[in-house]
Amino acid sequence: MASAPEGVRDLRGFIELLKARDELRQIGAEVDPCLEVAAITQQVSKGAAGGRALLFERVRGHRWPVVTNLYGSHQRAAWAVGAASGAALQTNWRRALADMAANRAEDGLRELLARQPSPCMIHSQAALCREVWLPRPDALSLPALQSWSGDGGRYLTLPLVFTRDPDTGAGNCGLYRVQLFADGRLAVRWKPGSDAYRHCAAWHRRGRAMPVAIALGGDPALLFAAAFALPPDADELALAAWLRGRPMTMTPCLTSDLAVPATAEFVLEGLVEPGVEGLEGPFGNHTGSYQAAAPAPLLRLTSMSHRQAPVLPATVVGPPPMEDCFLAALAGYLLLPLLQMDFPDIVDLHLPLEGIFHGNALLSVRSGCCGRSLIQALWRHGPFRHARLLVVLPAAVSLRDAAICYWHVLNHVRPERDLVMAEGRLGIDATAGGEAAFLDHGPAMSGHLRRRWREYGLEP
Ligand SMILES: Cc1cc2nc3c(=O)[nH]c(=O)nc-3n(C[C@H](O)[C@H](O)[C@H](O)COP(=O)(O)O)c2cc1C
Repeated sequence: MASAPEGVRDLRGFIELLKARDELRQIGAEVDPCLEVAAITQQVSKGAAGGRALLFERVRGHRWPVVTNLYGSHQRAAWAVGAASGAALQTNWRRALADMAANRAEDGLRELLARQPSPCMIHSQAALCREVWLPRPDALSLPALQSWSGDGGRYLTLPLVFTRDPDTGAGNCGLYRVQLFADGRLAVRWKPGSDAYRHCAAWHRRGRAMPVAIALGGDPALLFAAAFALPPDADELALAAWLRGRPMTMTPCLTSDLAVPATAEFVLEGLVEPGVEGLEGPFGNHTGSYQAAAPAPLLRLTSMSHRQAPVLPATVVGPPPMEDCFLAALAGYLLLPLLQMDFPDIVDLHLPLEGIFHGNALLSVRSGCCGRSLIQALWRHGPFRHARLLVVLPAAVSLRDAAICYWHVLNHVRPERDLVMAEGRLGIDATAGGEAAFLDHGPAMSGHLRRRWREYGLEP
């Protein structure tokens, strides 16, 4: 395990780190942003441990390079947030939460975020993301990708989308896909329940256009924070500040009171007028099928700027394992200590790569814990409220050993007693049969074997 990276402040700092650690391939051959970049990324990400990050230096019809699969391994996802590993991150997080006065997860999390320093604001003239200002914003100049043949068009897939609640003033930074339209407008797919969706509804209730800023690049820890399931209006910038151990550096928007990361590669600003929508999609996603086209708010650009020699970060979502799976797995390291604050019987949590973020979780619990009640509680509130499959297993079962989990469920679950179903979701309580008697040879035998193994003449 390589050491925790230090000094990474932005996307290009992260790219340099990955180059230095032989975790990035530079591709000099010209590639097509429609399908070809995604097809290469898909193939590479299916390689050992998620494959390497890919920097496509020459993208057909565009001036700027694209980088994909940045977060696409357990190791790189941890480095992106400044940690040596997910386990190391979890240790620090657990310690930080233990220092909070609150003992409920959401309160503890909000307290921890509230203690982080406010972002450091710098003047736009000093901000790298303002090095080049385009007099006429042109989103189509971005080397945005079309990932799958049935996709409705080209997309920004790693955008940091900034909005503000007009009633409370609370800001939000979310990761929501953005489709580019031929007329230069952008469709932003924030799903119902997301903070941006609520903000937009509040602006439009007042009959006003919502200002939106989209940053591409900046601190890779902020991207992780943007995708992490924080409670409503909790501050992603504060989570990124905790991860990095220093405040985010932001700069004011040129056309609204929003702020964006000063080191972003690109910044797009615009307005979403009430009632102005476009048909977004279809979009091939991590379920392995297309999400059908549907109306989404349209953003009319009012400003665009970029750094000198910018690089567009992009991801490809599709059949696992792909980059988003590793972001989800890293999120699991933060979620376990939070879950344990509310449910002390939980011993471990595993989010399988195939589980599509919070779609599937395996949890192990202490004996005496009612798995069925736990499943129902997790569906009521929090990151697993939409989980399609929750499996609760005894503490003795190793959650990262899929074969053992499968074997245990098969042999210990009585469907009529142990399945919990609600609104298209399935819970499996694999603890209900009581303590399984795990087979062993007695406590002394493993030491005995170790001592005598050579004597048996067997391979070590
Ligand atoms: C690669 C990736 C793509 C995502 N795309 C979307 C999206 O298009 N729309 C959406 O609402 N959420 C999307 N999400 C999930 C959100 O980023 C996540 O739910 C986040 O917590 C939302 O922030 P919010 O609670 O501040 O709204 C995506 C996550 C990842 C990792």
